[in-house]
Amino acid sequence: MKSIRGVWLSLLLVPLAAAPPLGAQATSRNDEVENCLGCHGDKDASFKLPSGETQSLFVARDVFEKSVHGARQGCIGCHPGQAEVPHPPLTAKDKAAFSAGFKDLCKTCHFENYTKALDGVHYKILAAGGSAPFCVDCHGVHDISHPKVPRTKVSETCGGCHGDMAETYAKSVHGQALLAGNQDVPVCTDCHHAHDILDPRTKDWRLTTIDLCATCHTNKTLMAKYGLSTNVVSSYLSDFHGMSAKLATSGVKPKAVTALCIDCHGTHDITKARDGGSQVLKENLRKTCAKCHVGATQNFPAAWLSHYEPSLKKAPLVWAVGVFYKIFIPFIIGGLCLQILLHLWRVLVNR
Ligand code: HEC
Ligand code: HEC
Ligand code: HEC
Ligand code: HEC
Ligand code: HEC
Ligand code: HEC
Ligand code: HEC
Ligand code: HEC
Ligand code: HEC
Repeated sequence: MKSIRGVWLSLLLVPLAAAPPLGAQATSRNDEVENCLGCHGDKDASFKLPSGETQSLFVARDVFEKSVHGARQGCIGCHPGQAEVPHPPLTAKDKAAFSAGFKDLCKTCHFENYTKALDGVHYKILAAGGSAPFCVDCHGVHDISHPKVPRTKVSETCGGCHGDMAETYAKSVHGQALLAGNQDVPVCTDCHHAHDILDPRTKDWRLTTIDLCATCHTNKTLMAKYGLSTNVVSSYLSDFHGMSAKLATSGVKPKAVTALCIDCHGTHDITKARDGGSQVLKENLRKTCAKCHVGATQNFPAAWLSHYEPSLKKAPLVWAVGVFYKIFIPFIIGGLCLQILLHLWRVLVNR
């Protein structure tokens, strides 16, 4: 291992040597990078922390050049504190403290994502002293690439720690489509966000999932591509479960308990509605209802309209009542208006 303390020494002793003069400001990005890599481009560059741990100081040129920052940014944008050579003395005692010193580095240029991250579940855990990811754990350091290109990269990033979720998701209707190159299906961050991730177990967040599914499942052009119905949301909302959800969301009955899309379809394990393992397949439906409707019999789901609009074939009684009201109500109101008009006419004529 070559110590670069030696390099300090030679620079101090021979200020006019081939290496850039001490303290000289690099005039361009390229000069700057060359200057820094003059020492940090050395594979063996490292130093010992007071704790005895060895910290590598190597930055691979080819990796950095290919990164999103490498093309335009130099080194000092991220490391203003090390612009001067030799650098100010290091205060970190061990590796953990060394890394922690860089924690807020991204804030200067990515303020919006930084502040969003402070609202997320991961940061709450970090702030409480636990271990959870911050910027570089998901994005990398000198090798940062576009985080959504290709889109499968998102589940790989999250799956690095949430392996079981990523595995389940990969087998779902959304995940399988994603792996086959489909760009229309949701990835982890469409549902959870990347930075301001909220706790998915809270009731308030769970209620927002109805709108989440609706963003795509009510989009007529999108759903036509897959031959899927877009009335799944409206039919749900006019059903007893959806009604209760609306009351809970609007705060009229904040404590209302009900079934959401995800209670019947699942979350990371959503399947095609007519697939063998589907929770909403006719054969499996009783079990799904029974999660909440204790003692539901085999006939229980049959008493429910699912996402269907009532029709003469499906639920004729409900349909007939609907039709009756559609005729009966205009008839009554029309009659009432007619009666008032006739009265008015009489009054005017008899005056
Ligand atoms: C003459 C060799 C040399 C040059 C040139 C050099 N460094 Fe360093 N750098 C070091 C050494 C040695 C350390 C080890 C820690 C220390 O002694 O400060 C270090 C440490 C670092 C660290 C770790 C944090 C710290 O404060 O120690 C960063 C970040 C860093 N350098 C960035 C840069 C950047 C950016 C440039 C270009 C502007 C640069 N270095 C140029 C020798 C150099
Ligand atoms: C996008 C911001 C960014 C850019 C650009 C950048 N760095 Fe870093 N660098 C970081 C972060 C963040 C860390 C801390 C990594 C950690 O947690 O240990 C770091 C760490 C370092 C370290 C300490 C050793 C290590 O790998 O942890 C050195 C040395 C270093 N950078 C040098 C450079 C040099 C030289 C360049 C230019 C070629 C450069 N950096 C460009 C963000 C950046
Ligand atoms: C000195 C300013 C600066 C700092 C500090 C900085 N970045 Fe960047 N970052 C940029 C710029 C400018 C771009 C856009 C590059 C482009 O589009 O060519 C960028 C792009 C990105 C992208 C890709 C964005 C996309 O649309 O695909 C990511 C991810 C990213 N930065 C993460 C980070 C992280 C993580 C850190 C901290 C370790 C960091 N950046 C620190 C300036 C900075
Ligand atoms: C838990 C992993 C994770 C953490 C932690 C994280 N990011 Fe991201 N970031 C992502 C993903 C995934 C994307 C892709 C965007 C998406 O899918 O919505 C992204 C996108 C970005 C982008 C591209 C522009 C955009 O908003 O889409 C930037 C810049 C960025 N992050 C910076 C940061 C910074 C700065 C931090 C730290 C404050 C950070 N990220 C923390 C996962 C993370
Ligand atoms: C470096 C590891 C790591 C990465 C990468 C990561 N997470 Fe996490 N995440 C954690 C840890 C640790 C927790 C705390 C709870 C736990 O132990 O599961 C957590 C908690 C969560 C929670 C809250 C649920 C809970 O169990 O507390 C959600 C939601 C979540 N992460 C989503 C994501 C998403 C989405 C991504 C990708 C954008 C991601 N995570 C990337 C480590 C990670
Ligand atoms: C279609 C939307 C959707 C997608 C895509 C999605 N999730 Fe989730 N996720 C949810 C919902 C809804 C919950 C709440 C589940 C519940 O409480 O029953 C959840 C819960 C979680 C939790 C907390 C679970 C727990 O009980 O601890 C984590 C962690 C998580 N998701 C990570 C991920 C990761 C990683 C990905 C990508 C591989 C992902 N999610 C993709 C909707 C989604
Ligand atoms: C980003 C858009 C998007 C979001 C958000 C989304 N989906 Fe999907 N979903 C799709 C697309 C596209 C397909 C068709 C995939 C295919 O067949 O290859 C699909 C397929 C499905 C299917 C299978 C239908 C069948 O029988 O073939 C179900 C069930 C489903 N989604 C339920 C949900 C639920 C529940 C949510 C909310 C938690 C949700 N989706 C959120 C886009 C989305
Ligand atoms: C009480 C249980 C239940 C709830 C709640 C529920 N669904 Fe369904 N869903 C079903 C059943 C059962 C089917 C199968 C209907 C069939 O195959 O005839 C289905 C079918 C679907 C399909 C496939 C449609 C097609 O054209 O093949 C989609 C997409 C879907 N639901 C999305 C949703 C969304 C989005 C929500 C929330 C707004 C939701 N579901 C709420 C039980 C439910
Ligand atoms: C996550 C729990 C849950 C699931 C799963 C669920 N329900 Fe419900 N259901 C409720 C709750 C709570 C109510 C009462 C409040 C309301 O109307 O939303 C209810 C109300 C009903 C009602 C109105 C009459 C009554 O008993 O109050 C019927 C009928 C019904 N559900 C049928 C079904 C069918 C059929 C399924 C399966 C396809 C199903 N439910 C799945 C929670 C659930």
